[in-house]
Amino acid sequence: MKRGLGKHAQAWAMAHVSPHIERMMAERKRDLLGSLRGDVVEIGPGTGPNLRYYARGVRWRGVEPNPFMHRYLREAARAAGHEGEVCEGAAEALPFEDASVDAVVSTLVLCSVGDVRAALKETVRVLRMGGQFVFFEHVGAAKGSWRRRGQALLGPAWRAMADGCRLDQDTLELIRGAGFGEVRAEELRLRFGPASPQIVGVAIK
Ligand SMILES: C[S@@+](CC[C@H](N)C(=O)[O-])C[C@H]1O[C@@H](n2cnc3c(N)ncnc32)[C@H](O)[C@@H]1O
Repeated sequence: MKRGLGKHAQAWAMAHVSPHIERMMAERKRDLLGSLRGDVVEIGPGTGPNLRYYARGVRWRGVEPNPFMHRYLREAARAAGHEGEVCEGAAEALPFEDASVDAVVSTLVLCSVGDVRAALKETVRVLRMGGQFVFFEHVGAAKGSWRRRGQALLGPAWRAMADGCRLDQDTLELIRGAGFGEVRAEELRLRFGPASPQIVGVAIK
C-alpha cells in the first residue's frame, strides 16, 4: 500500500472535515449502528466517526488500510468507551474466520475500495447467518441524468484528490448482486456536492 504525505494529509482532512458530514448522517446512523450487538467489524473506519453510535458491550474491530488514521481511531474508541481493535488490512481480504461476525459496517468506503465485489464477498463470508451488513454510501446519480454526467466529468480529478473515490459507482446494484438473503435500502440526497446521492440500509445474510 502507498504510504506518505498523501495518506497522512487524508487522515488529517478526514479528522477535520468529517464533523460536518457527520451532522447530516447522524440520525440514521444512531438508529442503524446503535441497534447492533455482538461482534461488529467496520471496514475503512477512517478517523472513527461511527464509534460514538455503538452500544456499550459491542466488540468492535476496525479494518483500516491507512495507518495514519489509526491514532485518531484509537482516540475515538477511547472517547466512546470501546476497547476496540484496529488492524491494517483491507476489505477485500478480511482477517476473520467464516461466519464469525454479527455485523459489518461500511460508511463512505465502497466508493474507494479497489475491488468492491471482492469486499462484498468477504463481507458475506465473515457474517454469521442472519448477520447484517450496514451501509451508508455515496453513489452514482440516476443513469442518464445531468448529475450523473457531471459526476463522470469530475470523476478523474475527484479520484486523484480523494484517494481513488469513484463518484459514479452503482453501489446498490453491487450490494444487491453480492449474495445476501435480503437487502433493504433507502436512497436519499445530502448536501454533499457531486457526492450528494446516497444510499443507506442493511443487507442481511
Ligand atoms: C472517505 S473515508 C470514510 C471513513 C469513515 N468510514 C467515515 O464514514 O468517515 C474512506 C475510508 O476507506 C478506507 N479504505 C480505502 N480503501 C479501503 C479498502 N480496500 N479496505 C478498507 N478500507 C479502505 C480509507 O483508508 C478511508 O479510511
